[in-house]
Amino acid sequence: FAKLPLKHKKFLITAGPTYEAIDPVRFIGNHSSGKMGYEIAKTALQLGAEVVLISGPTSMALEHENLKIIQVNTAQEMLREAENYFDEVDVFIAAAAVADYRPASVASEKIKKADTHLTIELVKNPDILATLGKRKKDQIVIGFALETENGVENARKKLEAKNLDFIVLNSLKDKGAGFKKDTNKISIIYPGSIKEFDLKSKTEVAADIINELIPLLNA
Ligand code: C5P
Repeated sequence: FAKLPLKHKKFLITAGPTYEAIDPVRFIGNHSSGKMGYEIAKTALQLGAEVVLISGPTSMALEHENLKIIQVNTAQEMLREAENYFDEVDVFIAAAAVADYRPASVASEKIKKADTHLTIELVKNPDILATLGKRKKDQIVIGFALETENGVENARKKLEAKNLDFIVLNSLKDKGAGFKKDTNKISIIYPGSIKEFDLKSKTEVAADIINELIPLLNA
């Protein structure tokens, strides 16, 4: 087994949540910690890869001579940065929990309390993974799916719609899996097959995912 099987391979990884501004002090976001994406970046670096990590706001830190971290806030910024790097990478892994919607406009001043209720109009954000999946040439493109029902079926639809090589299904039903946890339970889904993994630390899950893609890179 090669000691640095990912030497000379370039990875692009998105991680963390996105924050979509409502006004200068408020945003729409989610509880993604960024941990899964950062663990994947760390594992790829340890195996010799060069990594560009596009990160939404997280409390994660990672340093390495072969790592470039680009901090972004919004889905639109994340897309712009990912598009900049996509053509030159061998692997794109979308681990970010991108906000599906953003406020239609950002108020320039702090919104005052209303007497009764307040309505914020939302518009759809771009799907970063689907956009780049369509642009795929030789890249291996991998996504995640977090489902609460019909997991395998929904994940397969996303695998196809977003033109992925495989999709990592996160189980929310299992205790210890998902957001803000140190562990995760995944299945790796291909068009015609599925591999189930045990509940493991996110570090071990990152290794499983990387192990799964190495043969695809060398195919
Ligand atoms: O469609 P859904 O949001 O369930 O798909 C999840 C996958 O798509 C994840 O890999 C996520 O990073 C990616 N995604 C994205 N841009 C979006 C929404 C999801 O890259 N706007």
